[in-house]
Amino acid sequence: MANKNPFSNITTLMLDFSTSHLTKILHLLVTVLFAFAIKYGLHAHRKRSSLSASAPLPPGPAPWPIVGCLPKLLFNKPAFRWILSLMKEMNTEIVCIRLGNVNVISIASPELAREFFIKQDSVFASRPIVMGTKCLTRGFLTCGLVPPGDQWKKMKRVLTSELISPVVHKWLLQKRNEEANNLVSFLYSQCMKNSVNGGAVVDVRLVTRHYVSNVIRKMVFNQRYFGEGRKDGGPGLEELEHVNSIFTILSLYYSFCVSDFLPCLRWFDFEGHEKLLNKTMRVIDKYHDPIIEERIQQWRDRKDEIMMQNKEPADLLDVLISLEVDGKPLLSTEEIKAQISELFQAGIDNPPNMFEWVVAEMINQPDVLRKAVEEIDTVVGKDCLVQESDLPRLNYVKACAKEAFRLHPLSSSNLPHISNSDTIVGGYFIPKDSHVMVNRYALRRNPRLWDEPLKFKPERHFRTDQGGSVTTVDLAEPDLKFILFGVGRRACPGIQLGSVISIMLLARLLQAFDWSAPPNAPSMIDLSESINSHAMAKPLFVHAKPRLPLHVYTTAKL
Ligand code: HEM
Repeated sequence: MANKNPFSNITTLMLDFSTSHLTKILHLLVTVLFAFAIKYGLHAHRKRSSLSASAPLPPGPAPWPIVGCLPKLLFNKPAFRWILSLMKEMNTEIVCIRLGNVNVISIASPELAREFFIKQDSVFASRPIVMGTKCLTRGFLTCGLVPPGDQWKKMKRVLTSELISPVVHKWLLQKRNEEANNLVSFLYSQCMKNSVNGGAVVDVRLVTRHYVSNVIRKMVFNQRYFGEGRKDGGPGLEELEHVNSIFTILSLYYSFCVSDFLPCLRWFDFEGHEKLLNKTMRVIDKYHDPIIEERIQQWRDRKDEIMMQNKEPADLLDVLISLEVDGKPLLSTEEIKAQISELFQAGIDNPPNMFEWVVAEMINQPDVLRKAVEEIDTVVGKDCLVQESDLPRLNYVKACAKEAFRLHPLSSSNLPHISNSDTIVGGYFIPKDSHVMVNRYALRRNPRLWDEPLKFKPERHFRTDQGGSVTTVDLAEPDLKFILFGVGRRACPGIQLGSVISIMLLARLLQAFDWSAPPNAPSMIDLSESINSHAMAKPLFVHAKPRLPLHVYTTAKL
């Protein structure tokens, strides 16, 4: 299973990107771009507003003409590690890096983040259009990655009122429960099948990604499997391909492609990212499109009958198809396909990464593991599985999840924002069209914000009210001391669903299994990070052993 890891594709891609390639690119860059020099120079000069005279740009490395710091970036990939080291070297919480004709601003201070995304939210409410935007949004049809405008508003309304509203969230509880039960029964069957010391060594990444994608697949298509599936509830080949493709897509979005900063080079697709993205999107379409098209056809053929019978929608696809305005479909087939694809991309990656890190950190700190399990045993007991209604009372478990999100964010920054006018933030001039990102990785390491910043300490998320009682822990971080769901117009609308999926995953697996390092392996888990992301360097394999009475597992399978 390890070599099915999508991140390994990216590692290979980066390594293949040899120095000779880089030299060729640089030659070409200089030649092609020299021709544009005068044009760009004059254009930039004209654009500069009077604000630029009153405040300096944030500090940053000196850019070359035309290409800016792109050559440095190309020689120092992955970009996020280079940016981080720059900020460290320059001892700054804000940096401006000129890449081609774009100012990329990276920030690592909650005060600045609040000024960008709360105080000046309307200036920074847009997204840059980069290599993957058009392809991922099927021509700017979704809401997550597109600039604000009528289409963004339309799709955001559809998402928030029809797909993830509190009423719909409640309606979909049964489907989420089925997949939370399947999570436990699949893992239990693994333990029985490959028994080592009463349990089994399991691929945590595989199990958790399968669970999260199942939840979304069940909500959207009312099915767990695209193909025949497996009797033990595990992923079939189709589901593995589907999930791996989504992770590949996610790793390609905003991957600092040369053409994101010098759009005139887009055609060359030097890094091969565009080709890989198109190919991967075709895999997703292979699974989604036939289901969507067949269902739309059924709706067209039998709409009157369905309406007459007052039939409940079976899933979110039915909801999307049946939305109407003045008797006509609200959404085109393309919009439905785009929205569904975005749901998978938005919801799938964070919870599995969180669980992998939590369980690794907990095995290394048995006290934390013991406290979390004790809390679940006290609140829920051992005779039935954790339900969503129990989650508000599992504060220590939630604090563990929150701490993993803080310490081990999967991506190094939030989705990039872009400024729609010149402005001043924190005393610095921020030109129109700057790409602004909060550097999550630098935030988590900032000793000004966190005591022992690199230590896994769930207790740090407990707050007390005026009477001294501990308040309920939730995953949001409105102070922006770290970024999980973001704030403002472009904040994550899926916070309720994302939180429930994450906490159920953690609570169910801690309740139903004892976790330890594999037999004959070092007792401490290696916490190294991947070079190209903040995922664990290698998929985590640890020992899981059932700890509840047998009837609990058999009931979960029903
Ligand atoms: C634990 C799970 C999740 C985390 C940590 C997360 C985090 C985020 C973050 C950091 C952003 C960008 C905020 C910004 O640009 O400042 C975002 C945007 C977004 N998320 Fe989530 N998300 C999660 C789950 C979900 C789910 C389940 C959905 C879908 C139902 C969703 C839908 C979206 C959408 C549509 C946007 C873009 C909003 C816009 O640009 O207008 N997310 N999310």
